[in-house]
Amino acid sequence: MTIYLNGQYMPISDAKISVLDRGFIFGDGVYEVIPVYSRRAFRLAAHLQRLQHSLDGIRLTNPHGITRWTEIFNELIACNESEDSYLYLHITRGVAQRDQPFPNPPVPPTVFVMCKPLSRPSTELLASGVRAVTAQDNRWLRCDIKAISLLPNVLLRQMAVDAGCAETVLIRSASPTDEAFLTEGSASNIFVVKNGVLLAPPKDHLMLPGITYDVILEIAAANAIPHEVRKITAAEVFSADELLLTSSPREVLAITWLDGKPVGTAEPGPMFKRLYKLYQEFKRDVMRAK
Ligand code: PDD
Repeated sequence: MTIYLNGQYMPISDAKISVLDRGFIFGDGVYEVIPVYSRRAFRLAAHLQRLQHSLDGIRLTNPHGITRWTEIFNELIACNESEDSYLYLHITRGVAQRDQPFPNPPVPPTVFVMCKPLSRPSTELLASGVRAVTAQDNRWLRCDIKAISLLPNVLLRQMAVDAGCAETVLIRSASPTDEAFLTEGSASNIFVVKNGVLLAPPKDHLMLPGITYDVILEIAAANAIPHEVRKITAAEVFSADELLLTSSPREVLAITWLDGKPVGTAEPGPMFKRLYKLYQEFKRDVMRAK
């Protein structure tokens, strides 16, 4: 596989970075995951906007403009055998002596991009939905930054895997006596369906502003699907008729079991089926229009 590292294209086996890279030492960097359908990056502008938001959040200058990013992406997409793939891009604050403050003067960032085949959810998974567990969201207070320091997400996601589940649904309260609210999944955004209404938590510093989340809300608005963007209590999560998770690789999936209990009928419900179909149509239309 050919990857891009700091201005050069090379086989992944030749790619080397210093052990003093601040990404390795401190997790000091940000990343993006961009799906590619029919060899075209999906919602590229929105992904690059979110990248800029993450870079601003960690006070790191964007190493490239849109034109250069696009060149790099197209080169890697062309090297990939799959029609559908995803771009992973990763920027760190570069290589410096191990010291927490930013290097002064700044050093060049480390920029890594790879393009890998996309494995979309299987037909079986789409038909059955997935199992999830809930956990207290114990991450930091800037979850809107797509930071490479993902240890809390790793530990939270492993809780799901240990329980034979696909995702951990995160609930956060300001203190143990305060009301708890849904934030997101360990690697996805979460929607609740109640009485035919699609509920989405509002974008804030406690969740990643998902690109798929945006697409789902746009689809809901365009198709007159009743929806509300508002804080969602833990109680509403546990009494949902349907729960949905969204992310670039998993698109939209039904969560049919939560903490070992059925969600609604324990089968993907009508909202999931409608949104899934509309999402596929939307993708096709966008790709055809390009
Ligand atoms: N993550 N929330 C979190 C914490 C995520 O890690 C992700 C996706 C999302 C969904 O965002 P989007 O719809 O833009 O993919 C929400 C990617 C896929 C990852 O870390 O691999």
